[in-house]
Amino acid sequence: TLLDHLNELESQFTVSTDLLKRVTERFVSELKRGLTNQPGDIPMVPTWVTSCPDGSETGSYLALDMGGTNLRVCEVEVQGNGKFDIIQNKYRLPQALKTGTREELFDYIATCVKKFVDENHPGGDKKLEIGFTFSYPCKQTSIDDAILIAWTKGFDIDGVEGEKIVPLFNEALKRVGCNNVTLNAVLNDTTGTLVASNYTKPGTEIGVIFGTGCNACYIERFDEIPKLHDYRLPADMSMIINCEWCDFDNQHVVLPRTKYDLAIDADHPRPGLQTYEKMIAGCYMGDILRRILLDLYENGVLFIGQDVSKLRDPLAMDTSVLSMIEVDPFENLDETQQLLENSYGLATTEEERHLIRRVCELIGTRAARLSACGVCALVLKTKKQSMMVGTDGSVYNKYPHFKERLEAAFKEVLGEDIGSKVITAPAEDGSGVGAALVSALQAKGKALTK
Ligand code: BG6
Ligand code: GLC
Repeated sequence: TLLDHLNELESQFTVSTDLLKRVTERFVSELKRGLTNQPGDIPMVPTWVTSCPDGSETGSYLALDMGGTNLRVCEVEVQGNGKFDIIQNKYRLPQALKTGTREELFDYIATCVKKFVDENHPGGDKKLEIGFTFSYPCKQTSIDDAILIAWTKGFDIDGVEGEKIVPLFNEALKRVGCNNVTLNAVLNDTTGTLVASNYTKPGTEIGVIFGTGCNACYIERFDEIPKLHDYRLPADMSMIINCEWCDFDNQHVVLPRTKYDLAIDADHPRPGLQTYEKMIAGCYMGDILRRILLDLYENGVLFIGQDVSKLRDPLAMDTSVLSMIEVDPFENLDETQQLLENSYGLATTEEERHLIRRVCELIGTRAARLSACGVCALVLKTKKQSMMVGTDGSVYNKYPHFKERLEAAFKEVLGEDIGSKVITAPAEDGSGVGAALVSALQAKGKALTK
């Protein structure tokens, strides 16, 4: 019956405090392993950003921010002491570009930059430098060099993995006739978020994205980074480390994967990779719901006798569907009814809709609770008693109750005292401002030590 199925889902998707603690414990050991030369799931990428702004930086910088949902081109006027002014254009990243050719992708990005520059710097003779927030896992040998390790977040484009991003981008700028702009820094969105948050809220030491993907970076001392010891840098100096934690538990030791998670993995262009992210990030939550709904249909629980073909499209549901259902204000879940009818041609009884809403809560709560483990692991790794976390991403900013669920889990894992002092705060315009600030540091010769 409907209730039996719900009970089954409840038990598969509920993450107990005890399990949260075990996941976090494993996470800490994987973070530490990533800082050594031993092979492991979390690469802990050195960003070569060795200082945060000290408030004295000023000037105008261009930034290009390619997140999971949007592409933004900005010009940031850094005014010093935590102040800035920003102008920006936002462009949607068309779905087709995510699985097209690399020239199509880079030409589109370069065209957006050209449009912005033509509008704001007509004439095309002013030499401009741009910082690029490229939010995919890259190996960095310096601040202006990044090699894509693997596509994440629904991207699958040949000829970019294993390649250097900067020349691909600079060549595209030339192709579209944008000759006065050069790229001078590449950074991850978590790095942008941390640098920007640290600028406006000094003391912030973690940057985290809960969005289409999920990842974090933090400030680490050199003496805690054995894999960089050959560089003989002062032990008390630090560097931002981009964890790239989407691959946490690719060994399948601790995460409670359900049959839906296994199916998502099996159908993914990179099966076996990004185990953690596939359970918690905005890119996948809609697909988890879609698969559960189809499963309930196959079991004769929902949509009996109806045509579910629209639900069979792998891209049929995104995370906004869960958000809308979770916030449906009507007792009889009338908005959910409209949504299912209009988007998928499906009729439901009120009882069915309450089941669907509960499923959304289960998926959203599991995502928040498991996401919390990564943050708690960083707090434990750095042995801090409190932590300010600069935060961005559509899931954090838009998914109902995400923040409360996250904070509840911080307290369960770290205890009331420390857990209540792990404070996430939104980094408004984080990555754009962060990229501009890293460009500013770079211009002052302060970002690079290598
Ligand atoms: C944006 C940042 O606000 O959030 C991007 O500017 C970041 O750099 C993005 O990648 C992450 O959120 P989402 O939901 O677009 O993946
Ligand atoms: C994915 C990317 C990572 C990024 C995160 C958040 O995990 O691999 O680089 O930081 O999404 O956008």
